[in-house]
Amino acid sequence: MAKKKIAIIGGGQIGGVLAQLCALRELGDVVLFDIIEGMPQGKCLDIAEASKVDGFNVSLKGTNNYADIAGSDIVIVTAGLPRKPGMSRDDLIEVNSKIMTAVSEGIKKFCPNAFVIVISNPLDAMVTLCQKITGIPYTKIIGQAGVLDSARFATFISWELGVSVCDVTAMTLGGHGDDMVPLVRYTSVAGIPVMELLEQKYGSAAKAKEVMEAMVNRTRKAGGEVVALLKTGSAFYSPASSTIAMVESILKDQKRVLASCVYLNGEFGVKGYFVGVPCVLGAGGVEKIIQFKLNAEEQALMDKSVAAVKGLVDTLK
Ligand code: APR
Repeated sequence: MAKKKIAIIGGGQIGGVLAQLCALRELGDVVLFDIIEGMPQGKCLDIAEASKVDGFNVSLKGTNNYADIAGSDIVIVTAGLPRKPGMSRDDLIEVNSKIMTAVSEGIKKFCPNAFVIVISNPLDAMVTLCQKITGIPYTKIIGQAGVLDSARFATFISWELGVSVCDVTAMTLGGHGDDMVPLVRYTSVAGIPVMELLEQKYGSAAKAKEVMEAMVNRTRKAGGEVVALLKTGSAFYSPASSTIAMVESILKDQKRVLASCVYLNGEFGVKGYFVGVPCVLGAGGVEKIIQFKLNAEEQALMDKSVAAVKGLVDTLK
């Protein structure tokens, strides 16, 4: 089978980790693009020189020339400024819209048939803008947020209950902002509802609720928690890893069910916006949006999150 080609636009913190993970997992040959001269070339040289030690057989090319992304099977967009302490993701919209416009024009020119995964923030608005400019079909353009938000939620639950994170199933819906919706009712440990385990631990439903609320809040603000500690930028290891799960599911046709920011056409009561929902990701890209019933409380939270996404996206118009 011919090797896949993966283009990463933006060779900063997330882009560099992504390039290394693509190589370590031998997902395909990597092209790392950035506007800074020498930086993507240097990172690719550095990663390639570890190939002997790590035992991978893919090529890595750093570039400042969009023509090098031609023929990519998948393009991952990380270009854009990250947050600094005190900033919300939405504060990045003006500067990152300009960057996303330039990047999208490069993709449209050289890779109009590729799958595209956007990571740049504010995510829901950036993926919308990228789709508008590139015209990439809705099944092939996806934002990464939900895999990470769900992973963060699962991590906090595993710490709280002292169980392996591998056995926690957790899902968040909605936009990638502080109004995101961690779905407690569908969260379990090896299939056992999480609230049942918290009630056992604390012997009280009220205390269990309080502990869960704290974890939900921490999940919503988890990106900001990392920003406050790093001070120089935002999270990059976990966003890169989360994106790799999506890339792998598409390139290997794994059909994993992953929370993804996709264009909705009436699902969950949302029409005409990119919002995070569970999807089957496979060789066809977004092969299916998985719908299920939300109760009144969950739907209200979803509506609030979607309203925030709409407010932001509408400022692009
Ligand atoms: N084209 C390509 N790359 C660009 C452009 C452009 N027009 N403008 C800026 N870049 C590059 C920068 O040179 C930098 O190397 O994007 C890279 C961004 O890297 P970092 O600043 O390290 O940011 P990172 O932590 O990787 O986050 C990237 O993802 O999660 C989001 O909020 C985050 O929007 C941010 C993005």
